[in-house]
Amino acid sequence: MSVQVTAIYPGSFDPITNGHLDIIDRARNIFSRVIVAVLLNLGKEPLFTTKERIRMLKQVTSHWKNVQIDTFEGLLVDYAMQKKATVILRGIRAMTDFDYEFQMALMNRRMQPSIETVFMVPAETYSYLSSSLVKEVFSLGGTVNGLVPALVEKELKRKMRSSGSSYRRDRQRKQL
Ligand code: COA
Repeated sequence: MSVQVTAIYPGSFDPITNGHLDIIDRARNIFSRVIVAVLLNLGKEPLFTTKERIRMLKQVTSHWKNVQIDTFEGLLVDYAMQKKATVILRGIRAMTDFDYEFQMALMNRRMQPSIETVFMVPAETYSYLSSSLVKEVFSLGGTVNGLVPALVEKELKRKMRSSGSSYRRDRQRKQL
């Protein structure tokens, strides 16, 4: 008898990187269903709107049949229960991720003991990667080729053309 396990992979995905994709790819071979859940109402000010992030996620995962894209707000554990998911999936890139992830996992377990957090490690090539770094490097003229899907690179170009100078100004202001 095969056990059907749904895993939720939550995050902001602003934008999705090859590191996220690597985790999704590994997870889809382990779990019967993987729901990539984009957090609405981010504390962080996103570069891409929710609609844009969803569209990119759908396009780059469309060939994986057991991967779904969704949004959620409120408590992650409540959303997981609603989806009948028993696993929350998080990527751990380095030890620096661990403290924060450990706290979240324990808090989520306290709130909903029936849900397990599973940590997965992305390919080492992506261990230093984050969405913020991608945006910063790209906005300052560096290459992100190989770090994000080609579609995301194209969308970054389009976005920076329309809001690039204000994004750069914002970044510089935050660094002061
Ligand atoms: N490859 C590349 N980058 C990765 C990565 C990977 N495999 N895994 C994580 N990251 C990066 C992300 O790009 C992101 O980078 P950024 O900060 O530069 O954007 C960073 O690591 C972590 O962000 P993310 O994965 O989006 O998670 P988060 O910390 O912003 O959000 C939630 C975590 C959504 C799980 C958490 O906020 C949550 O559950 N919120 C709902 C409310 C709730 O239930 N709160 C109680 C929690 S106990």
